[in-house]
Amino acid sequence: MEATVKEAAPIEASPRDLKRGLPPGPRMPRALQTAIWSRQAQWMLEQSRARFGDMFTIRIAHEGTWVMVTDPAAVKQVFTGDPKVFHAGEGNEILRHFLGDNSVLVLDEKAHMSQRRLLLPPFHGERMQGYERKMTEIAAREIAAWPTGSPYKLRPRMQAITLEIILETVFGVHEGERLEELRAALRSFLDLTTDPRLILPVVLAGPSRIKSFPPFRRRIEGVDALIYREVAERREAEDLAERDDILSMLVAARHEDGSPMSDAEIRDELLTLLVAGHETTATALSWAVERLVRHPEKLERLRSEVLAGEDAYLTATIQETLRLRPVIVIVIRRLTEPVEIGGYELPAGSNVTPCIHLIHRDPSIYPDPHSFVPERFLDNPPGTYTWIPFGGGVRRCLGAAFAQFEMAVVLRELVKRHQIQPARPESERPFRRAITETPRHDAEVVLSP
Ligand code: HEM
Repeated sequence: MEATVKEAAPIEASPRDLKRGLPPGPRMPRALQTAIWSRQAQWMLEQSRARFGDMFTIRIAHEGTWVMVTDPAAVKQVFTGDPKVFHAGEGNEILRHFLGDNSVLVLDEKAHMSQRRLLLPPFHGERMQGYERKMTEIAAREIAAWPTGSPYKLRPRMQAITLEIILETVFGVHEGERLEELRAALRSFLDLTTDPRLILPVVLAGPSRIKSFPPFRRRIEGVDALIYREVAERREAEDLAERDDILSMLVAARHEDGSPMSDAEIRDELLTLLVAGHETTATALSWAVERLVRHPEKLERLRSEVLAGEDAYLTATIQETLRLRPVIVIVIRRLTEPVEIGGYELPAGSNVTPCIHLIHRDPSIYPDPHSFVPERFLDNPPGTYTWIPFGGGVRRCLGAAFAQFEMAVVLRELVKRHQIQPARPESERPFRRAITETPRHDAEVVLSP
């Protein structure tokens, strides 16, 4: 049950051993690798590690070349490496057209740290307590309306909950016409990043032409108008200091030189939080339920501990879900200069990709790695470089505490209210939607009160 950094071979090789260029990897053409990656990423990763070892290279269309690292010591080297050398924002360039030039996701180095510093305070662990009441109300209200007695796909319902929680805690918009307008505009914006019919033209025309494509322009202009109206009104709000929503905190935040964030900066970061936090958390919640219904004894243990007011098993269940079914399977850093990792001198321009999926399935770190065993985390807290569903270093997910807190609230409300059975006999396999790995049938279950 060891969950700490395993002893790894020294990363630095002597100059005699140092190999130039990229580690080996599948030989098939890039287009074929891309096709397999989009359908069977986990399988491809597992096959490649079995064949090529701890470090291997795969080639994906439009993404350049990914050097997978699967050893915790190498992952540590990447996550703690100089942010000037390990760029994450560059790899997210496509998001710039949706999220804007100020988004923390697309920036690197100084500009990134400056935005990240402004966004950090609202996400501190202790602030989460302040959101608990609102999150619980939303979860309880939504879950009470779910039908019982017939098969029901949970993922869209979980998305509805995570969207309501974002509207309340991030945007601070509570009720009435304004909430409905904003909800509709944000949903339509989110479709741009997830609906294959809308994504296809981007792939065909190339991201730089997105804005001239009418469905994009309309949706982005629609959401921008509503966000700018909220920002303008919040700047005038007399109760700004008492408000605890993230928009209000960003309005009050100051750059190091004392200047406020511009409207465009706030708009870009709000949409960033929406895109980064909505689908991911809903998917993680769907996986938690999908795994629990396949293990009724664990679901029962969770329920009885939750009813007794205890949180340890709930926390371990969330950690184990994110280990076994990480929503995102890799994170990417593009090298701005040559770097020596795992005995290779990797050239500038290559992408180093800590592989969340393979680290989480390493039997030397997690015995019986393919089984769902929340108990493994009861006495062993997750290791910084061996449990990485939220990435790491200066790019670690800003919403990690928020997401886990939200998952705990929603799961608590769900198991308190309903008995849950799987709708299908077999486990659901991961299925890729945009960049997230979702349950193939959207976590289909049958609920009974
Ligand atoms: C279970 C849910 C979530 C998962 C699995 C997840 C995962 C991730 C991952 C893997 C990264 C990239 C980290 C890296 O490159 O090292 C990331 C970045 C980020 N996430 Fe999350 N995330 C989740 C929920 C959230 C939520 C709820 C929010 C905010 C409301 C959020 C906001 C962000 C932001 C702003 C970044 C960019 C950080 C930076 O570049 O400095 N995420 N997330």
